[in-house]
Amino acid sequence: MAHAVHPIDVTPAAEALLAANALPVSDLRGDPPVVLFGAGADDRLDGVVGLELHGTVALLRSLAVDADARRGGLGMALVAHAEQQAAAHGAQAVYLLTTTAAAFFARLGYRDADRGHAPAAIAATRQFSGLCPASSAFMVKHLLRDAPG
Ligand SMILES: CC(C)(COP(=O)(O)OP(=O)(O)OC[C@H]1O[C@@H](n2cnc3c(N)ncnc32)[C@H](O)[C@@H]1OP(=O)(O)O)[C@@H](O)C(=O)NCCC(=O)NCCS
Repeated sequence: MAHAVHPIDVTPAAEALLAANALPVSDLRGDPPVVLFGAGADDRLDGVVGLELHGTVALLRSLAVDADARRGGLGMALVAHAEQQAAAHGAQAVYLLTTTAAAFFARLGYRDADRGHAPAAIAATRQFSGLCPASSAFMVKHLLRDAPG
């Protein structure tokens, strides 16, 4: 099934979907602001994903799919879209923190990363420095350059 993923603002619907999945919303309007993408109607999102762009690295965050829309490929489509956007903005690696979906991300090519060697821009994010529990998995995927398509 094809999923249409498009840029969205930080709307009440996006915040509600994230909050319902116990994901941080307090830092969505940071500096730089989180870039959000969504699928579904503006007022009732099926899924959302966010990116913090920091030059050659990006932080993927705020991934949530409404419980009624899961297991249909939307989660994968949102991650793929975020990776494409990160690459288009010059990122060579995408990092993330997760307490709930490490196995999901591992299937998508993410590998455990060493917190001690996190790029400075990633270590400075609020997700890394406090909002995500220390027990979170810290993962990275290196993006292919000059990938076809
Ligand atoms: C993780 C999440 C985004 C996956 O969304 P989804 O739309 O169900 O994902 P997909 O349908 O694209 O799943 C792709 C594959 O991953 C599998 N998968 C889904 N969630 C998984 C999980 N938590 N762990 C391991 N595998 C998972 C699916 O079974 C599917 O495999 P299959 O095709 O062999 O069945 C969704 O479960 C969710 O919103 N969870 C709560 C919020 C969360 O944990 N977000 C991540 C925080 S960083």
